[in-house]
Amino acid sequence: MEKDNSGKPKPVILTCAQPTGSLTLGNYLGAIRNWSEMLDEHECYFGIVDLHAITTPSQPAVLRQNVFECIAQYIACGLDPQKCHQFVQSHVMGHTELAWVLTCNTPIGELQRMTQFKDKAAKLGFKVSENTGNDDLKFEHQGARAQASINAGLLCYPVLMAADILLYNADLVPVGEDQRQHLELCRDLAQRFNHQYSETFTIPEPYVPKTGARIMSLADPTRKMSKSDENERATLYILDEPDRIRKKIGSAVTDSGSEIKAVSDKPGVLNLLTIYSSLSGKPIPEIEEHFLGKGYGELKSELSEIIAESLEPVRAKYKDLIQDKAYLKSVLAEGADAAQKRAYKILSKVYRKVGFPERAK
Ligand code: TYM
Repeated sequence: MEKDNSGKPKPVILTCAQPTGSLTLGNYLGAIRNWSEMLDEHECYFGIVDLHAITTPSQPAVLRQNVFECIAQYIACGLDPQKCHQFVQSHVMGHTELAWVLTCNTPIGELQRMTQFKDKAAKLGFKVSENTGNDDLKFEHQGARAQASINAGLLCYPVLMAADILLYNADLVPVGEDQRQHLELCRDLAQRFNHQYSETFTIPEPYVPKTGARIMSLADPTRKMSKSDENERATLYILDEPDRIRKKIGSAVTDSGSEIKAVSDKPGVLNLLTIYSSLSGKPIPEIEEHFLGKGYGELKSELSEIIAESLEPVRAKYKDLIQDKAYLKSVLAEGADAAQKRAYKILSKVYRKVGFPERAK
């Protein structure tokens, strides 16, 4: 247990990201940049969730490499290994074990209602029935591809995520807006378990930043910016070179008219202003005033430079770190040890409460 200067235990933070290649500007602004500002006041555990990554089709060699790229990006974004524990989910025994216990306490209907499950299933060619009143899985096939690629892991994804959090009795979970529903489920599962088996889990609080919690696609600003977008102009990656940034921002979809105003019927401009504000630290009204009488072109070219400049130190640090696999491995080994220590205590308690007999020594 880590303590603050007055000797009080620091609140515990747990949060994770999937190792799917380069992190996006959405991951950075909605999540990782904020994590790095919380290191001093909290005991921090940051996971790279490779078990989650296999819920959608993945290739072993690519997954292995992505884990290294992800840890190098975590550190490059400011997650100082001296101040937090960074680990790979599959290195810590307990995530899948707790997930199983929680799965046995989760009605299927609650999982079917998860927006991300419906979205991902739809991408794989399934339509999930809106009839969530009963627990029957109702999928309509929309092509042969769907049958081949949907798996139970995708449905159980949020339970594994709940296990990630509850296994550390985390007080706070910093995430972007898209994870709010999963967090609600996690809180429900914790409360249900506590009610059924007596007080065991801390009920975690979500921490969603005020600006940048939902960065939208550059190609379709009504949709979230996502790593898996097929349109390569839709997503900015934190490792994109300045030229790419200029091209992507230059071709970002804006709205009819020419006024630079953050209003809901101008989702394209609103998104660009949100990114501008998150990176510059300036409030949106001040930015609107700055662009009074100017056009979208000026907004885009200034924003491109701000993004390129803000990400330059991240890119430079990443290039060094990714060469040093031994160092990255040592960070992950420390992280796994610290995480395992904490996870083991909580998992043992859960096993006892559920009624699993203790093994003779
Ligand atoms: P993942 O890998 O999709 O995203 C990692 C973090 O980035 C945030 N994020 C965004 N924020 C703002 N705008 C966007 N466009 C955007 N896209 C992503 C996410 O909200 C997240 O905070 N299920 C999780 C991983 C996970 C997890 C956990 C998170 C597994 N176990 C336990 C917290 C606690 C996910 O897929 O995140």
